Amino acid sequence: MLIAGNWKLNCNIKEAEDLSSSILNNLNHNSYKSEIAIFPPTIYIETVSNIIKNSNISLGAQDCSINISGAYTGDVSAPMLNDFGCKYSIVGHSERRNGKYESNKDVYLKAKNVMEYNMIPIICVGENAKDRDEGNALNIIKNQLDKSIPKINKEFIIAYEPIWAIGSGKIPTLDSINEMFNMIRQWLLNSGMNNNIKILYGGSVNKGNAKELFSCKHLGGLLIGGVSLNPNEFSEICIMAS
Ligand code: 13P
Repeated sequence: MLIAGNWKLNCNIKEAEDLSSSILNNLNHNSYKSEIAIFPPTIYIETVSNIIKNSNISLGAQDCSINISGAYTGDVSAPMLNDFGCKYSIVGHSERRNGKYESNKDVYLKAKNVMEYNMIPIICVGENAKDRDEGNALNIIKNQLDKSIPKINKEFIIAYEPIWAIGSGKIPTLDSINEMFNMIRQWLLNSGMNNNIKILYGGSVNKGNAKELFSCKHLGGLLIGGVSLNPNEFSEICIMAS
């Protein structure tokens, strides 16, 4: 399993140091079987990297540019993230697909750059509440998979994050998560992709619902937002994961 903490646009430098040190300290005093990865804001990647460098905790970025270099003010490219020791980059988070108008094509290009610079993209997909209510969730996700995932022979991870579950305190029923994961697993098979590709769930994960989420058949891990800012609760979930 992979337990990933997406810090989003949170923390000042001192808080980023304290949060990563606390998670490291908690995990050092316990045994756990999963891989743990944290995703600080890009500007604190180096700070956090220095704190976790001799540990098993992996580092990732929350996004990367569709470009490699050039006149793209403000962008951060895949080779730059690789220079700073990132193993992963999230791409296509709904806060970027919707908030920054990123298309499936953008997500595809970002994922391809991450793969080509020897990192692993965590490619996010998710339906909104209207799609879910109208019974279109499976079709929406299938379309995102078709258009966002590069068909090249490199490792990647899929994160299923229903938009209506993010930060809302609501999570889908286990049946609907299992139904979605079955569809994604079948999609991977039909596309001739490696059957070991992890599928993560994200959206309002906390220590109260983590246990039942871990019972989902195809669950490869969790992508945690708000609770990843609480070092004790985040670490508890990491320790709970098998
Ligand atoms: P929350 O855990 O705060 O709902 O956020 C989930 C998420 O968007 C992780 O990428």
